[in-house]
Amino acid sequence: MKISVIGGAGYVGLITALGASSMGHEVIATDIDEKKVKNLKINLSPIYEDNLDSLLKFCNLHNKITFTTNSNDAIKNSDLVIVSVGTPTKINGEIDLSQVEMVTEYLKDSINNYTLIVIKSTLPITAVNLMKKELDQKFKSGIDYDIISNPEFLREGRAVHDFYNPDRIVIGGESKKSINILKEFYSPLIKRNLNIPNNIHVSDEKIPIVETNLPSAQMIKYGSNAFLANKISFINEIAQICESVEADVNDVIFGMGIDPRIGKNYMQPGPGFGGPCLEKDLLALVELGKHFELESTFMKAILERNERQVELIFKKITNELNDNSVITILGLSFKADTDDIRNSASVKLVNMLIEKGYEVRSYDPKAKYILKEKKYAQYDELYTSVETSNCIVIMTEWNEFINIDLNKVYELMDKKFIFDMRNILDKNDERLNKFNYFGLGN
Ligand code: UGA
Repeated sequence: MKISVIGGAGYVGLITALGASSMGHEVIATDIDEKKVKNLKINLSPIYEDNLDSLLKFCNLHNKITFTTNSNDAIKNSDLVIVSVGTPTKINGEIDLSQVEMVTEYLKDSINNYTLIVIKSTLPITAVNLMKKELDQKFKSGIDYDIISNPEFLREGRAVHDFYNPDRIVIGGESKKSINILKEFYSPLIKRNLNIPNNIHVSDEKIPIVETNLPSAQMIKYGSNAFLANKISFINEIAQICESVEADVNDVIFGMGIDPRIGKNYMQPGPGFGGPCLEKDLLALVELGKHFELESTFMKAILERNERQVELIFKKITNELNDNSVITILGLSFKADTDDIRNSASVKLVNMLIEKGYEVRSYDPKAKYILKEKKYAQYDELYTSVETSNCIVIMTEWNEFINIDLNKVYELMDKKFIFDMRNILDKNDERLNKFNYFGLGN
């Protein structure tokens, strides 16, 4: 099939475009960012993601994929257009639909035979209705085009793996014809007929396909992200209570998680959920509720609890330290295995600590956070960043921190506070006895 992916240099778009090419489709990935497009042609990925570099190189060499800034030509030459542009949140909490509106203009200008428009971007039904209204000024829905929702569930850091090993494929459309076309698109993935590098793991488990209508597909995406966010706010609250009653949250999670109705996945206390998705999708649900005059008190509570988490961590640290302390923050990205610092609790904490007057250092294996501040410096090496420091705050669960050499750290540090805000160290590890060690919820 001839496919174009609009927003093809973005996170979801790039992985979808490469994935589609590895399924044997002829893919044109388009993006307005000229530099990224230029780099992708020479195998330079704009993001750090496990296995992405090797996949990009492989697809450029062996599969049918091109990168361009010309979306109109791409749409003219495609049977199926995948829309994966960004849907960020505006300051007032509403979704910024400007990129979707731009794509609608491209489609209006360029559809010349039946085109299936596949919405990968996380969009509410109200936005899709606006898109339809625009297109219907020129085309007939069902004859010239169909819109289908096909949400993605990729996790940053595991996105290539998740693409080839999805838990489910959700297809939400209004006609059997459009649903069948998308099933045909996915058929090589379902049959594991893929042209990919050997280092990418592909399981042979059957992939469930969920067929539904368009708004239900969108609500599966919003509901999933909201539920995941809910688990994190929930466990962070439980961890906080555990501290007051001297319970150990790790044992509590273990004991709760044995019940299969609860499970222990995605129940790790931490600095709160960050990244570009969970908060954005909760805010979108709140806005969607408003549109229908519904008050989303539950979604708001999840968000509020999350915002409080970094403040609680800040208080935990500042209660223990002198004003002139030197603090090293380990981990800047919003989670491990990504260089993404969007909505990172760690970045928020860095700023709060600087504002309070501390000297702050940071280290992250991949992420960068540059700040022109006398009292802040990012280091390139873990152990240099802790030298003569008074306190370490672990904010991201990178393997490098899980395997940190505590004896070496002890020798290098001055005063010895460790705030392990991901509970990645074993609090019973004897080497920790020499430190003032603080976990979360234990
Ligand atoms: C999330 C969803 O997990 C994906 O399924 C979805 O496709 C994606 O959003 C999206 O909508 O694009 P992602 O934001 O990459 O994926 O990251 P997660 O692994 O879900 O983590 C989100 C945040 O929750 C991170 O800050 C992470 O550190 C935190 N978290 C996660 C915890 O604090 N505890 C946990 O147990 C799990």
